[in-house]
Amino acid sequence: MRPPRSARASAASSWILAALPLLFGLVSSDCECGYSMTTGSDGALHVFADLHETDFVHVDITGDGEGEASHGWAPQGYNISSQASRGPFGESFAVRNVMSNTIKSPDTFSGPGTLGLDAGLLLVVRNVRQEDKIPVAEVSTTGLHYFYGTFRAGIKTTDVSGTCSAFFWYQNDTQEIDIEFLSAQFDKAKGIFPVNFVLQSKEAATAGYNAANTTGLRQVNLPFDPSTDFHEYRFDFLPDKVSFYADGELLAEATGSGVPTTPGHIMLSHWSNGNPGWSQGPPTVDAVTTVSYVKAYFNSSLEQRQRDFALRCKDPAAVSAVCAIPDHNATFFFSNSDNLTPNQTDYGDPNNSEPGNSGGKDDENGARMLVVHVWAFWLVMAVIYASF
Ligand SMILES: *[C@@H]1O[C@H](CO)[C@@H](O)[C@H](O)[C@H]1NC(C)=O
Ligand SMILES: *[C@@H]1O[C@H](CO)[C@@H](O)[C@H](O)[C@H]1NC(C)=O
Ligand SMILES: *[C@@H]1O[C@H](CO)[C@@H](O)[C@H](O)[C@H]1NC(C)=O
Ligand SMILES: *[C@@H]1O[C@H](CO)[C@@H](O)[C@H](O)[C@H]1NC(C)=O
Ligand SMILES: *[C@@H]1O[C@H](CO)[C@@H](O)[C@H](O)[C@H]1NC(C)=O
Ligand SMILES: *[C@@H]1O[C@H](CO)[C@@H](O)[C@H](O)[C@H]1NC(C)=O
Ligand SMILES: *[C@@H]1O[C@H](CO)[C@@H](O)[C@H](O)[C@H]1NC(C)=O
Repeated sequence: MRPPRSARASAASSWILAALPLLFGLVSSDCECGYSMTTGSDGALHVFADLHETDFVHVDITGDGEGEASHGWAPQGYNISSQASRGPFGESFAVRNVMSNTIKSPDTFSGPGTLGLDAGLLLVVRNVRQEDKIPVAEVSTTGLHYFYGTFRAGIKTTDVSGTCSAFFWYQNDTQEIDIEFLSAQFDKAKGIFPVNFVLQSKEAATAGYNAANTTGLRQVNLPFDPSTDFHEYRFDFLPDKVSFYADGELLAEATGSGVPTTPGHIMLSHWSNGNPGWSQGPPTVDAVTTVSYVKAYFNSSLEQRQRDFALRCKDPAAVSAVCAIPDHNATFFFSNSDNLTPNQTDYGDPNNSEPGNSGGKDDENGARMLVVHVWAFWLVMAVIYASF
């Protein structure tokens, strides 16, 4: 027996109401409106639209070993003279000094990799000289569009005296944010382990790019030995302020004209030029600094990425639309979950690692979302049709 028309209509409207969450709930996955953090001495909340997480313990970014880009990173190969390096020695940045020591089993997070060293990205400064150059190591993101964000790296520095281990954001020599460890400054006997936070600015340029001579330098003693374990080093780059952290503790803040005003890229390096005022060295044995991960949560200067964000972020106030970045959790990666990186750049395929390209995983997500969309649309249409 068919219910009267008015009852059918009201049953239909409750069906429509029931279907709405399917349309708007299922279709959007988590984190579509970005990743949030609090920063600085005032604990301000900021949200960034994009992410680029790299787990060097499990991922090899060294490509074909010839400097090919992989996972959004490119090992660097170039030579600079002693004049250019501003030290008694030149430097030979060679891709062979960038080594990957990955653990293949995905359920192991620590322990030695295949080389009998710590697992991760190994950046080596060699004790031999190549002509007048010191063999050193550097990697850079292939994307140059990191414009504000929170940047975090798990690092275990060398304890061999005479090198500089650096985690930094770079546009040019006057737009640069650095975290630098000078192994010659470490004093194990006295328990002194400085870390240097530097904004290279116009002022640094007039000081001959000698960070030691600028007010953009802040040196802080760490409460631990950075060469015995991995710790998380972090800088938050905002329009008016850069905040520096170690293991989630705010250690320094910089404001003023040294704060960069352009997009840039993320870099890791391990170098020495023998300059007695900074890196010192060269090291007397090969020195290895190991990086276990880099996590960048950032805004992109690419219009395409900004348009994508505007399209996918329907309601920033919706539950789970914005995901909080866990505080210095070395094993947590949003990218390890299927549904926490909607429409993010997939850096997994070495041949598809340029920002703006979408790799296989995101295409799959996109396809799944489209299927749900279409399915929910026809469900609603059928309910409306049945009711009238
Ligand atoms: C980053 O992008 C988000 C989303 O567009 C925006 O709300 C936020 O203000 C941006 N942050 C900065 C520091 O520009
Ligand atoms: C750097 O110089 C060395 C010799 O000093 C040479 O073997 C190497 O190919 C050069 N590297 C690049 C990237 O030009
Ligand atoms: C770095 O970039 C800024 C902004 O584009 C520019 O004003 C400055 O002159 C550049 N500095 C160098 C050393 O190229
Ligand atoms: C940095 O300062 C020291 C000591 O004041 C000085 O000897 C040195 O020449 C300066 N370096 C540069 C590159 O200006
Ligand atoms: C860190 O993240 C891992 C992986 O998601 C999780 O299992 C663990 O509980 C987290 N640790 C803390 C202290 O939240
Ligand atoms: C993000 O979604 C837009 C469509 O909304 C698509 O054009 C773009 O390719 C996607 N980007 C990525 C990196 O998945
Ligand atoms: C990337 O492309 C090159 C050239 O087409 C190919 O030789 C290589 O195998 C590709 N690498 C991967 C991981 O697909």
